[in-house]
Amino acid sequence: MKNKNLIELKNISKIYPGRDIPTLDNLSLNIQEGESLVLIGSSGSGKTTLLKLLNGLETPTSGSIQIKGKDINSYDILDLRRSFFGYVFQKIGLFPHMTVKENINIVLRLTKKSPKFCEKRVCELLDFIRLSPDLYLDRYPDELSGGEQQRVGVARALAMDSECLLMDEPFGALDAVTRCELQDEIIRLKEEFKKTIVFITHDISEAFKLGDRIAVMQKGKIEQISSKETLYGSPKTPFVEQLVQTGLGV
Ligand SMILES: Nc1ncnc2c1ncn2[C@@H]1O[C@H](COP(=O)(O)OP(=O)(O)O)[C@@H](O)[C@H]1O
Ligand SMILES: [Mg+2]
Repeated sequence: MKNKNLIELKNISKIYPGRDIPTLDNLSLNIQEGESLVLIGSSGSGKTTLLKLLNGLETPTSGSIQIKGKDINSYDILDLRRSFFGYVFQKIGLFPHMTVKENINIVLRLTKKSPKFCEKRVCELLDFIRLSPDLYLDRYPDELSGGEQQRVGVARALAMDSECLLMDEPFGALDAVTRCELQDEIIRLKEEFKKTIVFITHDISEAFKLGDRIAVMQKGKIEQISSKETLYGSPKTPFVEQLVQTGLGV
């Protein structure tokens, strides 16, 4: 099967106002339909910024982004955010005054689906992230542990059954067992439901488990992007070599 580019970034730079160093520095990257691409790199290397550019939460200072062959600016950005991308925020971002059900439902309820359909979907999603609907539907975020909140953030991103999932360190606060279970579910989303996934992590073993390709980022650039075998066998830079041998050390 020949892979098509779902997303193409060309010569992207991002300089935040008031900063002289670019957060992203002339970066080009293609994301193929149906692949899982993992971004890994030191803190501050620009991973979150890259994800935000895709979702239209930030705009590049220069360069272009194409989605399905069309410039990102030709889309209705809200529509893109609601239905094409599912986004898991690094800082979770649940609404504190809303219950678990309302948080997961937030985009779903904007669609024309019946309340009954939405409730059923929310329960399916809670099962998926391994929180019992009976116990969790009506709880508020401050009645959940950090890991449980993170899982609700994942469920919310999956609610619209979007084609492309953008996941920013979604499992950082989870215990090892739950983390492993949810990693398996991510693999299932890709293999069974053909989702395209862009996944940020700090953890090299998570990157190896989940990534068809792994992009190693450093100072706003991609140092190397390849399969885990190539990263291991032919690391292009000392940073990549150290990363695959010992991780990021954080
Ligand atoms: N809104 C912003 N305004 C100014 N600087 C920012 C903003 N967001 C991120 N940065 C800076 O850009 C750099 C990269 O941040 P980020 O994309 O969050 O990196 P990462 O996710 O790899 O840790 C950091 O130095 C950060 O301080
Ligand atoms: Mg980040």
